[in-house]
Amino acid sequence: MGPKVLVTGGAGFIGSHVSEAYLAEGWEVTALDDLSSGRRENVAEGAEFVEMDIRSPELPELLRRRRFDVVNHHAAQVDVRVSVGSPRDDASINVDGLLNVLEACRRSRVERVVYVSSGGVVYGEPDDLPIEETRGKAPVSPYGVTKLAGELYLDYYRVVQGMPSVSLRYSNVYGPRQNPHGEAGVVAIFSRRAMHGQPLIVYGDGEQTRDYVYVKDVARANLVASTLELEDTGTLDDFAFNVGTGIETSVNDLVGRIIEISGHVEVERQEARTGELLRSALDVRKLKSTGWSPEHSLTEGLSETYAWVAAAEGSA
Ligand SMILES: NC(=O)c1ccc[n+]([C@@H]2O[C@H](COP(=O)([O-])OP(=O)(O)OC[C@H]3O[C@@H](n4cnc5c(N)ncnc54)[C@H](O)[C@@H]3O)[C@@H](O)[C@H]2O)c1
Repeated sequence: MGPKVLVTGGAGFIGSHVSEAYLAEGWEVTALDDLSSGRRENVAEGAEFVEMDIRSPELPELLRRRRFDVVNHHAAQVDVRVSVGSPRDDASINVDGLLNVLEACRRSRVERVVYVSSGGVVYGEPDDLPIEETRGKAPVSPYGVTKLAGELYLDYYRVVQGMPSVSLRYSNVYGPRQNPHGEAGVVAIFSRRAMHGQPLIVYGDGEQTRDYVYVKDVARANLVASTLELEDTGTLDDFAFNVGTGIETSVNDLVGRIIEISGHVEVERQEARTGELLRSALDVRKLKSTGWSPEHSLTEGLSETYAWVAAAEGSA
């Protein structure tokens, strides 16, 4: 029997790939999810599934019984706009839910917590790129605030309670199983629209940039975070790793690649949306120093995602 991991949000987009990566390395995986946006069919084959809200009073008992070595926390309210419309609902899951998980981990003496933060929101609008981990934190949405608060809580549990943890700050993750029907996840949305011959909607001049990282590369970063020896020099950022590619890609570039993969599609230009970050790319040298590096080029990742969307929409 390998080490035991609990993956919260294991029926979601990234959590399901993370579960698969652990299973491939011989870990025993339990996926926990309330299925609010996740899907039962996403749960990795070979993982045990527990349907539960992370805020449930039954969660501590689950951890006590199963004795997990690692708890990998992906369950979250993930939508910036939902957080703006209802900051308390966001905090209920992203702060209160997290604390329920962390208290249960503390009581069950879990050896390590891997927490998922967001490099796209904790730093705010950067002065220059790429952004290294030590850059000032300036979240501009309730979601950004709760993601950063999570890191600070982990710091408290690490320093005062002696509970080891790592935070992963993701850039824009894309790949199979990302919801193409939502408002976020531009690759999934563009792929679906392209497949149906619908125009790709570009807001503003399309020169806004993001750091797109393929979900399977992100999943491998979680394995690194689960086993890495940690060096403590006493700051929050010692235990945080950016996860991305370091490469800026504009929406126009993305559109061009998707048109190449899918064939001819129209582009519709609409007015720029307020509050959108102009540019983003994460400095990933720290994670690369562990031996990890992103293995999928954008073209490879986009092709795999497009194939998945086409299959999922029933016309592969
Ligand atoms: N997708 C990205 O580009 C990105 C970027 C930065 C950070 N993240 C973080 O990665 C994590 C996973 O995001 P995702 O993109 O896979 O989204 P997702 O919506 O597919 O996954 C979140 C999962 O959490 C579950 N969940 C939500 N509330 C829950 C609750 N109260 N109890 C139990 N389960 C609950 C959902 O059902 C879903 O399966 C989140 O923490 C998110 O903030 C994602």
